[in-house]
Order: sequence, then structure tokens, then C-alpha cells
Amino acid sequence: MKDEIDSQPSTSGVINYIRTMLSDTRHTNMPVTENFAPVLDLTSIRAQFPALAQTVNGHPAVFFDGPGGTQVPQRVIDAMTNYLRRDNANSGGNYATSRRTDAVIAAARAAMGDFFRCDADEVVFGQNMTSLTFAFSRAIGRELKPGDEIVVTRLDHDANVSPWLTMAEDRGVTVRWVDIRDEDCTLDMDDLATKINAKTKLVAVGYASNAVGTINPVKEIVQLAHNVGALVFIDAVHYTPHGLIDVAALDCDFLVCSTYKFFGPHMGVLFGKREHLQRLRPYKVRPLTDQIPFRWEWGTLNHECIAGITACVEYIAELGRHNGAELAPRRAAIEIAYELIHQHERALLERAVAGLKKIPGLKIYGITDPARFVERCGTLAIRIEGHSPSELANQLNQRGFFTWDGNYYAINLTERLGVEKSGGFLRIGLIHYNTIEEVDGLLAALREIVATPNTR
Ligand SMILES: Cc1ncc(COP(=O)(O)O)c(C=O)c1O
Repeated sequence: MKDEIDSQPSTSGVINYIRTMLSDTRHTNMPVTENFAPVLDLTSIRAQFPALAQTVNGHPAVFFDGPGGTQVPQRVIDAMTNYLRRDNANSGGNYATSRRTDAVIAAARAAMGDFFRCDADEVVFGQNMTSLTFAFSRAIGRELKPGDEIVVTRLDHDANVSPWLTMAEDRGVTVRWVDIRDEDCTLDMDDLATKINAKTKLVAVGYASNAVGTINPVKEIVQLAHNVGALVFIDAVHYTPHGLIDVAALDCDFLVCSTYKFFGPHMGVLFGKREHLQRLRPYKVRPLTDQIPFRWEWGTLNHECIAGITACVEYIAELGRHNGAELAPRRAAIEIAYELIHQHERALLERAVAGLKKIPGLKIYGITDPARFVERCGTLAIRIEGHSPSELANQLNQRGFFTWDGNYYAINLTERLGVEKSGGFLRIGLIHYNTIEEVDGLLAALREIVATPNTR
């Protein structure tokens, strides 16, 4: 019992953070109370997600599949169905539902502006991260010529690699690869520094690895790239459910994410610095306006999903609007929410790693030292001797636990680590709606699977 209490991180950091937020002059009109209880209320959070109440084979469904896509709260479902029921139209028309559709899109752009900390006209909606990245890689490639260089990494999801490789092939541009450090699956920053030079025009890097959970020092990478005048394109898809995005502080040129990874609908959203969105030339149809961000959005958008995006940003903001911060403006509330999310996910991660380390034959890929957990999120890639990742995922599914196996398109990493041909990893994705009890249940299930003779 003592271990359980000791494994919970101190809440004082969160309290101090919230106090600072509340006294910050940017966040006026916020009443300050002394009665902070700065923890996530898991009962009320879980009650908002209808999917979490499901059962599988008589077991409660346990969703450790967040990295592949999170569940959505009722408010997102309502926003999407209400749009279809009430506001459904194409945009730009001179009649009521079309005007309401324009308002729905504008509201979502403002919400994502708060989420990224940028202006609403720097927010571009697209089908998903992959198609946005292909589109932007083409437009960026128009400015590049043979002899120019771009930098990609072995740690990245292929959606932030292949678009750049194919663009480089088309334009005669040289590709430089940044390696990883095998021992902890972090980016090799020394290698990265040697790959950036006066010819570098773009660095494509992930904020966090969707396979091993490593959080990259993206701010430092932006500075290295900007020192030589290169652009930085950040894939924040995996980071967004776990950590606060602040494009103003990062000073990145582009950052892209997918709302289905942070409690919203299946769409992609990109931040682009205004100067780039205005300067670069998209491939587009006539007579589409030349105004940003519209010139970067092709065809009719998915309006019902866009309605859901405002609701998913509001869901996150609401997590922060408690304990004296009820009237916090949306950005301030989002910042508080991520402090609380971080605190809870850290407790889940500590519990999971401590338990996994005790399972015979189990290897965790990535950072396992709790003193370095600030460099990772709660996405765990494991292998267990004598059990393939797909067998483990199937066995866990029979017990109600949803995990993923394979490479999840982090194929440059699974190849680099030599596990691609033998099934990749089993991925356990911890997210803020998971509980300590669910982590304990997973550990017990894995112990049971390992103790049972393999009958394959
Ligand atoms: C880190 C990362 N980048 C990019 C993607 C691709 O995102 P999308 O499905 O929106 O194209 C994913 C999807 O799993 C991902 O995890």
C-alpha cells in the first residue's frame, strides 16, 4: 500500500502552476480560491465517454489503444449530430444553414487557434495529417532545387517521412537521416546537429514517437534549423493528447496533428506561420480565393467533423475549468488541463513501467528510468520472449484489453531496431481516461499470459 502512495507524483507542481496561471495578468476575471483539489475527476471524465462502458467477452473493455485513436466524449458526438440535424449545408451561401456552417467552421478555427496558440487564420483543416503533409510537402518542394537538403528522422511515423522522400526525389533534393540512440530510443541530437548545415532547407521531426513514446526536444531543433534558415515541420499527432502545444513558444513553421488522437473526430489540422501560408503556392482549383487559410483547403470540408473539433477542444478546456478556474478563458483552461493530464498520465506510466519491469522475458523499448519520464509520454513498446506481439494483442483482447501490435507506421524505427520482420512491438497506450486499476489489470493479464505455456 505504501508503494502505491509513493508512486503518485507530488501535486505541488500542479498547484503552483495553477496559482501562477490564475495570477497571470493575461487571464483576467478569474476568481482565485484557496480550495484547490487539482486532480482529474476520473469518474466524471469516464462518464462522458460512452465507449468506455463497453464489455468484451464479459470483461470491461480497457482502451490502451489511444495512440491509434482515442474515444470521444458525448459532447463531440452531440456537436457532430447537431450539425447534421440543424446546420447541414455547403459553406459560403446566402441562406441560414450555409451561414451557420460558416460560423461552425470559424468557431472551430478559433478553438484550434487557442489550442495551438496562434491566430485563427493560421489554422488549416484537412482530411488527416498524412494528406496535409503530402500537400504541404509539394508546395514547399516548389521552392527547392537540386543540391538543397532536407532532414528526416528514424524515429518518425512514416507520414512525416515518405511525403518528404517523394518530394525530394521529384525535386532532386538530398535527404539526410537522423539516427536514434539504441539504448533509450531517443533522437541522437549529436547526429542531428551534424546533419543540419547551410544547405538544409527543411527539418521534418515528430514531437513524440507513436511507437516508443519519446518526446523530442523540438524547441531546440527549431533553433538549430532556424540558425541556418531552414523551415521546421513538426508532426505533433502523437504528442497532442499528452502535452500542451504552444506554437508561439516553439516558433516552428508548421505543426500538424489529427483530432481523432485527442478525443475528436477523424480529421487533420495544421498550423502554418502566416508568412509561409501567404508566400508558398498551393496546388489549387480556380476560382478559389487566395486568402489564407482557405487557399490551403481543397474541396468541401468535413463540416460535421469540424463541428466536433470545437467540442473536443472545449472538452479539454473543461478539464481545466475546476477548482477556482471555472471562468478561465479557453487557452488558460487548456494549459491547466494539460498540467492535470500530465500529472495523471505520469502516475499511470510509473505504475505500468514498475510492473512491466518485473515480468520475466519482457523488454521495454525506450526510456525506463522514472527520473527521465519528463522525456517521454505513456506510450509503451514492449516485446516478451517466446510470444509474438500479435499473439499478445490477441490474448489481451480476449481479456478485454485493447492494445496494438506491429509497426504502426513507425516502420523506420522497427526496421532500425531489427524487430520489423518479427512482428514489431506490442504497444500499450496510456491516456488520461485510463485508471490505475486498468493498468494493474493489464499487468496481471500479462503475468498470466507469460505464466501459461505457449501452445502456438
Ligand atoms: C505520430 C503520427 N504521425 C502521423 C500519423 C498519421 O496521422 P493521420 O492518420 O491523421 O494521417 C499518425 C497516425 O497514427 C501518428 O501516430
